[in-house]
Amino acid sequence: MRDLAETSPRHRPDAGGAVVSEGRWAHRHLLDVDQLTRAELEACLDLAVEMRERRDRHEALDDLRGEVVGLAFMEPSTRTRVSFELAATALGAQIVNLPIEASSVTKGESLVDTLLTLQRTGISTIVLRHSLSGAPYLAARSCDARIVNAGDGTHAHPTQALLDALTLREAIGPLEGKKIAIVGDILHSRVARSNIHSLTALGASVWLAGPLAWVGDFVDWPGVTVANGLEEGLADADAVMALRIQLERLSGDSAMSLREYAAAWGLDESRMELARRGAPLLHPGPVNEGVELTPELATSVRSLIGTQVTNGVPVRMAVLSLLAQ
Ligand code: CP
Repeated sequence: MRDLAETSPRHRPDAGGAVVSEGRWAHRHLLDVDQLTRAELEACLDLAVEMRERRDRHEALDDLRGEVVGLAFMEPSTRTRVSFELAATALGAQIVNLPIEASSVTKGESLVDTLLTLQRTGISTIVLRHSLSGAPYLAARSCDARIVNAGDGTHAHPTQALLDALTLREAIGPLEGKKIAIVGDILHSRVARSNIHSLTALGASVWLAGPLAWVGDFVDWPGVTVANGLEEGLADADAVMALRIQLERLSGDSAMSLREYAAAWGLDESRMELARRGAPLLHPGPVNEGVELTPELATSVRSLIGTQVTNGVPVRMAVLSLLAQ
């Protein structure tokens, strides 16, 4: 199957842009974080904090009142789908869930026709998750609704990167000059790709550690260092992000077994001691416990895995609000 992300940069409907005025975005769609300037990234994180405070004070928020948000998840999701639904509801929107298994997609209706149908029913924003890299770019070119990428294939997961940036900023302070180690299957990870863009844009130094086949493509990426082994990657890191092994995206002939991966690259408390004292641990979830990290580390005081999930709602509120302005 053709990977649409290969062609997407030439056709990006919403690349570039600038902050229109203080704390605003000039974008109609959120396709990846690489379309956002540092000021736009920071504006989103600041707005997420403000949204969280206002929601916690039970203030009425009506940024999306009168709008209909469609949740088109064509791949499984728990965190992203639920937090987008809560975020849009908190902003006063009406929600339409499109359960793919009960939709006309099962009768062969195309992605574009499906999205056009949603738009014609009055849906103004479509949150799209799709197994095909680049699908949100096709969507943004094909219909008039705002498109929010909720994860496309191995390409991008922009709202995950935004909630990770907020979680990191609140745990270790401004990211300028900080060493962030990302460990695992970078090659198949949309979370890693988006985080590389946002963390480097925010001034962090990103180190990648993993089996050569999963990190080798990134040696020339600006702002990124491919570590010579796990120890170098973790050494003095200000924070560590473990990635989920993408079992559903690996081919059956993957050279390394999960047991071998866990032995060579799996994180536990003793390996985390190579990082700075108290360095936090992130993971986008769901965790393959005993593979990427031990259950003890996942529930330790270092772990921000629960905080990441919690931050997903205000970050997605901020994204939906900024796109609607
Ligand atoms: N992190 C993440 O995208 O999780 P879900 O697949 O559960 O949405």
